[in-house]
Amino acid sequence: MDREIELEYLDRRYEEGRPHLLVLYGRRRVGKTELLRRFIAGKPCVYFLAARTSIRDNLAVLRKRIAEATGRRYFERLEVSTLRELLQFVAEELDRPCLVVDEFGYLVELDRGVVSELQYAWDEWLSRKGSFIVLCGSTVSVIETEVLGVKSPLYGRRTGSWRVEPLDFRGVRELLPRYGFEDAVKAWAVAGGVPLYVKELDDGRTPEENVRDVVFAKGSLLFDEGYFLLREELREPSTYLTILKYLSLGYNSLGKLAGATGYDKSNLAKYLSVLEGLGLVRHVVPYGQKRKGVYQVADNYMWFWLKFVLPNRAELELGLAEEVLHREEERLRQHFGLVLEELVRQLIARGTLKLPFRPRYVGQWWHRDAQIDVLAVGDDDALFAEVKWGKASRRDLDRLVTASQRVDVGHRKRHYMVVAREGDVEGLVDFEELDRATKPR
Ligand SMILES: Nc1ncnc2c1ncn2[C@@H]1O[C@H](COP(=O)(O)OP(=O)(O)OP(=O)(O)O)[C@@H](O)[C@H]1O
Ligand SMILES: [Mg+2]
Repeated sequence: MDREIELEYLDRRYEEGRPHLLVLYGRRRVGKTELLRRFIAGKPCVYFLAARTSIRDNLAVLRKRIAEATGRRYFERLEVSTLRELLQFVAEELDRPCLVVDEFGYLVELDRGVVSELQYAWDEWLSRKGSFIVLCGSTVSVIETEVLGVKSPLYGRRTGSWRVEPLDFRGVRELLPRYGFEDAVKAWAVAGGVPLYVKELDDGRTPEENVRDVVFAKGSLLFDEGYFLLREELREPSTYLTILKYLSLGYNSLGKLAGATGYDKSNLAKYLSVLEGLGLVRHVVPYGQKRKGVYQVADNYMWFWLKFVLPNRAELELGLAEEVLHREEERLRQHFGLVLEELVRQLIARGTLKLPFRPRYVGQWWHRDAQIDVLAVGDDDALFAEVKWGKASRRDLDRLVTASQRVDVGHRKRHYMVVAREGDVEGLVDFEELDRATKPR
């Protein structure tokens, strides 16, 4: 089942019986609340979802939740005006308090003082009662600075933190069991590993039909979600959107981005690092180099949205989804190829696709017009791989071998692999093999 690792992380700590103050966070929609829901099922835990209202209102709701979860109705009538006081009662009244605060970041935004109050309550009462507390948040920046940061009053109190990441490819396949490998890659390219997005797709219909009816359709979630994500997390969404747009068009270095957007490089570097922190952008360098890296859009949904929804918005607003789909056919194919490349790197890095050696580095390499899609390097071995969306031939292997001669991997033994739907070539890993390797358990 998906989210097994995360659940085990929480369950194991819960069962230890020691006091725990855990921080669980991750970008919007990634599946945090669902994870918490599964975690508390069957446990005597209070689940509280904070709101962007007022502290007073939040305290009232929290009292109500505690009353419901513990059967101690007097919590509802308790006269407290601060979080600290309420937590003191909780520690006094309950045996081993278990409290899950979802969207804790909202409370912090309302009043940064809640962090100190919680710290005080934790030190004085809650930790002594063996409490189990989970703070959850989706405003990654708020959590990272106000809760996890060195300047936070809670610094040094938390006993663990976990950043919830999107599902991996296999997790996505679990949600779309009727899709074979090729369709699953397309779905992953469209929705990434965000369960909410994946569940918008229907595996009873082709990925193309889904794109037409679910992504390219005005009024549907995936049509607008790109804007939503940026607006939720960032103070200047339009600046970030401009950067991401050019990035998706291939302006992938600081210099090129500066030229295209008109922003100066030092500002750009700051914006890009914020985007990196959110998991929307990544910086990659060719193997063996420290510099000369490029930026890429790191989130599959965002990438798809930037490349195929944003530039076609005017037509899509008019309901011309079928026409856009038809016109974009070739670009879509190319895009799926790029996504497959990244998938192969992930599968190798995670050991889903087994190599004859243990890789210590998985990445890529390029120089001028030559490139290696996937490069995996171990202590005594190196693997060069070419990834193709379609059919592979002998020529692909020849090109790979030629290009690989320009890469310095020392005395390591060289291996070659061609990944493609089908083909007649040595070292081929075809879609059938990838299908078996990534079948949900
Ligand atoms: N592991 C999963 N498997 C299947 N569906 C999931 C999974 N995780 C989440 N979902 C579904 O995705 C939707 C969004 O998930 P959830 O509300 O947990 O995300 P979140 O991270 O809490 O989002 P937000 O930041 O908006 O609060 C829910 O409808 C949920 O049912
Ligand atoms: Mg949530």
